Amino acid sequence: MDRPARIAPSILAADFGRLADEIDRIAPSVDLLHVDVMDGHFVPNISLGPPVISSLDRCTDLYLDCHLMITDPLAYLEPLKAAGADGVTVHIEAVPDPMPVIGEAHVLGLDVGLVINPPTPVSAIEPYLGEVTLAVVMSVHPGYGGQEFLEEALPKIEVLREIIDSRALSTDIEVDGGIDLRTAGPARDAGADVFVAGTSVFRAHDPVLAVEELRTILNQG
Ligand code: DX5
Ligand code: ZN
Repeated sequence: MDRPARIAPSILAADFGRLADEIDRIAPSVDLLHVDVMDGHFVPNISLGPPVISSLDRCTDLYLDCHLMITDPLAYLEPLKAAGADGVTVHIEAVPDPMPVIGEAHVLGLDVGLVINPPTPVSAIEPYLGEVTLAVVMSVHPGYGGQEFLEEALPKIEVLREIIDSRALSTDIEVDGGIDLRTAGPARDAGADVFVAGTSVFRAHDPVLAVEELRTILNQG
């Protein structure tokens, strides 16, 4: 496979009291950092926002992939950019017309992606695939880490891969939720490029080893 697999640990599963140490430890082994932003409205949980992203930006050079599980992403693009976000992904369920958010992200110089929840079909984001750098398939219901991978994400990844390849787009496919040594291979085979892993990395006895094992699986086949 000529598309490199990239690993994006989700800090949601890290110990927030020791965040800088937890990130330092895995930084040399990973490709980007996945930052889950939740507003308690689009999803029931509340996680973190621009002030924490600003601290993260000061403590790591890793690309900050900010997953916005918030009702009004457009209102927060500017503060997120100022805080040090490199890319944002927004839910199509939150912004049925994503073009204003995509346009504003481009103006600000942020990479932008679109996310689909488990019940949302690929067709919801298909018209915009040429405008975004990332198409994200949720393989859990958003809001919490540590959930079981939903197998129905796999055919959606396959369909996206087909569309992206047939249109010769450079859009990458990210899969988010329940990625571990059992589920990473099938997600890779289905056509994903970026693998978000929270629990299986940060809750592992040895997070660096967990990343290495994940990478071994992703590089097979
Ligand atoms: C869920 C988040 C995920 C989550 C993944 O709402 O979007 O990024 O942190 O964590 P695990 O790997 O534990 O499913
Ligand atoms: Zn996420």
